[in-house]
Amino acid sequence: MAATAQLIDRFQRAGQGQVFAFFDQLTPAEQQNLLSEAGEIDLAEVEQLNRTLVAKTAGAVGVDLEGLAPAPYELLPANGGDAAAWAAAKQTGEAALRAGRVAAFTVAGGQGTRLGYDGPKGTFRVTPVKQKSLFQIFAEKILAAGNRYGQPLHWFIMTSHQNHVATEAFFGEHNHFGLDRARVHFFRQGRMPAVSFEGKILLETKSSLALSPDGHGGSLRALARSGALDVMERAGIDTLSYFQVDNPLVRAIDPAFIGWHLIKRSELTSKMVPKAYAEEKVGHFCTQRGKLIVVEYSDLPMAIQRETDAAGKLRYLAGSVAIHMLDRDFIRRMGQSAGDAGVALPFHRADKKIPTVDATGAAVKPEKANGVKFEMFVFDALPFATNPLVIEARRADDFSPVKNADGLDSPKTCREDQLRQFARWLVANGVSLPTDATGLPAITGEVSPWFGYDEDSFAASWAACAVKPAIVDGYYLT
Ligand code: UD1
Repeated sequence: MAATAQLIDRFQRAGQGQVFAFFDQLTPAEQQNLLSEAGEIDLAEVEQLNRTLVAKTAGAVGVDLEGLAPAPYELLPANGGDAAAWAAAKQTGEAALRAGRVAAFTVAGGQGTRLGYDGPKGTFRVTPVKQKSLFQIFAEKILAAGNRYGQPLHWFIMTSHQNHVATEAFFGEHNHFGLDRARVHFFRQGRMPAVSFEGKILLETKSSLALSPDGHGGSLRALARSGALDVMERAGIDTLSYFQVDNPLVRAIDPAFIGWHLIKRSELTSKMVPKAYAEEKVGHFCTQRGKLIVVEYSDLPMAIQRETDAAGKLRYLAGSVAIHMLDRDFIRRMGQSAGDAGVALPFHRADKKIPTVDATGAAVKPEKANGVKFEMFVFDALPFATNPLVIEARRADDFSPVKNADGLDSPKTCREDQLRQFARWLVANGVSLPTDATGLPAITGEVSPWFGYDEDSFAASWAACAVKPAIVDGYYLT
């Protein structure tokens, strides 16, 4: 049988023949496109997901809560943690940076639907004065940290099929923001087909499948498959600093975080911040049957999220801010396919509105969820890691994501959090800058990561200014 007929036959035997319902009406180029997309699909995997995730109703896909307890974590010195241990961690992290063992990694494959922004999310402009994009901020932090430790850093960026070309073009237009382009590595994440509630793979058009990114958990496979891990190995990099594209406040390169990870011989270390309120929509660090896990807010019953201890403090306080330190060999182990390694990240089900075609081939834009997408989450790697660790971070210095157009986690809240951070750094160095009760200064301004990307680097630059710059409305320190 010819390859085409064989492929179609495999889909038919798997009960997925609808994928080729319009095949005879397509031009040769369209047929080729559909065949190539169909060739990407692992039908056995789809079959298994249909059995385990789709066949049950959404309500019945219960999350196992047995034996769940809040996870322990390393407290910051300000909250009672061991100051000497934090100082040692910072030193170890700085040594690793000077030795060139660390690279940055941004997951930027998401679609930014909630923000309502058309284009790769990393191109979204967020800073108060210069309107720098998310990508530019990360680039400058990475450059500045490379200068500080005398070792230029590599930066890995995971894109999706939808935004890969636009992302690379954006970096090209901006001359890679001054980074050595040989050290900026883009690669696409994998994709998964969406299925109907009956488990049938959906067509997006008559000649293409409804495919979507396989979640940030797909980054482990993608790092392995793209050759990124080999690049790391050749460059002597064994530690990857992972952060999301939506969070400009992140300490992209944080020596203490790196140091904790290395000292504890952890394969996967994560940052937590105390939840701001019980209903905050973040993942929760928990333990279960001796393993460290993250339970998403959507999976943890509200009664549990609201539980308090005798002192009135939230029991499940440790919120995940999606900032991790990953060991290269661990990624290699997790990035193999399930068959090779015997371990694989689980998929999660998300019911979505999926544009598709009806029986006549006419386009359908559904008004309510009509199918299921499958995604993997990187934090599901925690239970597979040796010596996994959670450390506390200061929200004000690590986390202010841009997720929604307005309200919480919006461009406005993020801009204000940047202004508060710059104000704290200035005040800590002797500048008098009036702020309101939340720490928000009355004037607008901006500190370039070149000048300071954390309190230490800021203090060093400030001390080096023979004549201190005037801090007036619209100031820009660079
Ligand atoms: C995520 C976390 C949540 C955490 C919160 C902190 C999940 C399921 N939840 O929520 O635990 O508290 O961030 O901000 O992750 N991405 C890809 N490829 C994909 C999907 C996403 O690269 O296929 C990237 C996005 O570009 C983004 C990040 O992953 O950088 C987060 O994705 P998003 O879906 O926005 O996560 P949240 O639901 O906000």
